[in-house]
Formats: sequence, C-alpha cells, structure tokens
Amino acid sequence: MKKFLIPLGIILLIVAMYYGVLKFQDVFGEENSSATDQNSQQTTNQDPANQTDQEFFDSMLYSINEPASPWWVVNKTRPLPSGYIPNDLAVPDVKLRLGESQEQMQFSKQATADLKSMFEAAKLDNITLVFGSGYRSEALQRQFYNSYVAKDGQAAADTYSARPGTSEHQTGLSFDATNATQTCHLEICFYSQPEGAWLKENAHSYGFIIRYPDGKQAITGYQYEPWHMRWVGKELAAEMKKSGVSTLEEFFELPAAPDYL
Ligand code: DAL
Ligand code: ZN
Repeated sequence: MKKFLIPLGIILLIVAMYYGVLKFQDVFGEENSSATDQNSQQTTNQDPANQTDQEFFDSMLYSINEPASPWWVVNKTRPLPSGYIPNDLAVPDVKLRLGESQEQMQFSKQATADLKSMFEAAKLDNITLVFGSGYRSEALQRQFYNSYVAKDGQAAADTYSARPGTSEHQTGLSFDATNATQTCHLEICFYSQPEGAWLKENAHSYGFIIRYPDGKQAITGYQYEPWHMRWVGKELAAEMKKSGVSTLEEFFELPAAPDYL
C-alpha cells in the first residue's frame, strides 16, 4: 500500500503545481495585458506625430499676397489690384442692415458658411448680430472716403476710412457688424454693446478677427474698430487668439502701416 502512496503523492503535487501556475497566469497575466493595453492607448494619445498634427500651425498654408486668399493682407501700403472685384460675391443668408439689392450687402462666398455659423451661434446666446456693411467697390469706398474728408478733413479721415483701392471691404472678406437698434453703430462704444463683447470673445472660433484692435493704430494705420470683422479662416484666427498677436501686420511680420500714404 505504502508503495502506491508515494507516486500518488507526487501526482497530486504535480496537479496542484499545474493549477497553481494557471491561477498565477490568470491574475498576473491579465493585469499585465491590461496595463499593456492602457499603455498602447496612451502611446496613441501621446503620439508625437498626432500632437504635431493638432498643434502645428502651417504659416505657409495660404498666401498673404494673392487676391482672394483667406490670408490676403490689404492695408495702406498693400493696395488691391486696380478695379478688383471678387468673383464669388453673394448676399449672405444672415440678418442684413440694408436691402438685398445694396452692393454693401454682399460677401465672399468662401467666407459665408463661417459667417452664418457665427450669427447662428450668437443667436443661441441671445445675441442678434446684424450685417452692417460687407463688400464695397472702389467707387463706393471713394464716396464714403470723400464724404469723411469733407466732414473731418483728410488727416482725421485717414485714421478711420481707407482710401479707395486700399479698403479691406473691397476684398469681400470683411464686414462691419452692428445690432438691431444700431446702438454705437460704427462707434468705439460698440465694444461694450453685447454684440461687440460677444464678437471679441467668440469671433475667432468662426474664423474672424477684429482687424483694427485697440491700441494698434501705429501698426494698422486705423483707430480701434471693434465692429470691423475680417474673415481669415479658423486656422489663422485660432492661432492669432492663442498667440495673442492681434494684427495681421505683426503676425506676418509686415511693416507697420504709415499714418498716410
Ligand atoms: N474703416 C475701414 C478702415 C475701411 O474704410 O476700410
Ligand atoms: Zn469696416
């Protein structure tokens, strides 16, 4: 009998060790593999290539010189080509200050989707934006500029009205915002109106910048215009907001505009 007990004991010992190993693998093998899973997930999230995709700003994405480019920089020293008319003008489907037949109620179609999104987002925040003045031909800008010169003199007019052929409005990519009551319409106090404050806070999310910020007259050549919005697309608007560089001249390292031409 005793001679059977020893091999039986060995067999039982082997079986016990076998199950012990399986159990060990269950517990530690699983933990191990889930850590690996997490790690590979983290690795995906922290993949430097992915981060680069999200954070890399391509400063060569668009031209600053090419007419109709989202980043086209027009200022006192960078006039439009003579007689330039954008080839994609249309009346945007947003709240307009004037009748649809008015030249100023047009905007470049490439910027219209972002314009509409911005007006709709404002509306959700109980802010009613009004499209005050968009595209202006060289001839219309001439009428405006001449009337301001007659009223305030040329030196003063040059601080708030572009000479014909140099207005961003002629690109079709800019518009003046206002509100339903036209309170502070084309006045600096627009910044403290709910519509002006909303634009300052949110416009960049829809690809727009306040083109003539406060305190930048020596750079842009124009006094603060909290109503004058320029579409540059979401990439650049976000990057300017993030970097705190508020003018196109500074962002693209262009010469500051002179006080007069
Ligand atoms: N008020 C801006 C500078 C324009 O006339 O285009
Ligand atoms: Zn304007």
